[in-house]
Amino acid sequence: MSQPSIFIIGAGPQIASAVAKLFASNGFSVGLSSRSQENLDKYAASLPSGTKHATAVADAGDYESIVAALDTLKEKLGAPTVVVYNAASLSLGPKPLLELPPAEFEKHLSLTTVGGLVTGQWAAKNLRQDGSYKPTVIFTGGGLSLQPRPGFAGLAAGKAALLNLAKAFRVETKGIHFATVIVKGLVDKGDPYFASPLIAEDYWKLYEEKEEAWTFEVHH
Ligand SMILES: NC(=O)c1ccc[n+]([C@@H]2O[C@H](COP(=O)([O-])OP(=O)(O)OC[C@H]3O[C@@H](n4cnc5c(N)ncnc54)[C@H](OP(=O)(O)O)[C@@H]3O)[C@@H](O)[C@H]2O)c1
Repeated sequence: MSQPSIFIIGAGPQIASAVAKLFASNGFSVGLSSRSQENLDKYAASLPSGTKHATAVADAGDYESIVAALDTLKEKLGAPTVVVYNAASLSLGPKPLLELPPAEFEKHLSLTTVGGLVTGQWAAKNLRQDGSYKPTVIFTGGGLSLQPRPGFAGLAAGKAALLNLAKAFRVETKGIHFATVIVKGLVDKGDPYFASPLIAEDYWKLYEEKEEAWTFEVHH
């Protein structure tokens, strides 16, 4: 049986790296995608030594580049077992709702939600589904999807839509574990409950679940 693999769109130093390291330590090869090759090289270097890995640059706001990156990772590592959509519009920063330009709101939806749609569609067609491993797709959600905070209406709406999108994938696909981890606090800012390695364990537990006991929404 060939090695299982995890692909992460929106690779980064916190949740993404913790998830990548945990799956790598459980025998997975790792495909990472973010906007910067320089950053990707750093994340790849932090993986457990000997981890088979590949990287591909993509901007999650550019849907064709997401598909191209996923295709590249598949060419290098084979069909994935697990795909994670972790990118979000965090870098757009806060803005009071009454001053939020519609174009910026659209950007939030594009980065936080539509990138998830494109990634989920690609995963449904390309995940390894030969019975050897458990095909899994996980969207990284946020507490803002449940309760917006001042200044973050764009990101909140994007995450709320992403949560609903995960449910829609569940309804319209069979045999794939489409799940969401809703992170309801600030990551790696001192509270041990929100330490990224602990959050990563939720991703691993979701992967390990048997189909008859699948959970779909983890609140962390
Ligand atoms: N951090 C928190 O406190 C927190 C709280 C609740 C929920 N979350 C959610 O958790 C997820 C991960 O957040 P994290 O803070 O732990 O970060 P992370 O997983 O360490 O990294 C996320 C990475 O996404 C990449 N990215 C950003 N915009 C992108 C784009 N347009 N296209 C492709 N890649 C992009 C960035 O890398 P490049 O700069 O190299 O592109 C960034 O480092 C996000 O979905 C976030 O909304 C985070």
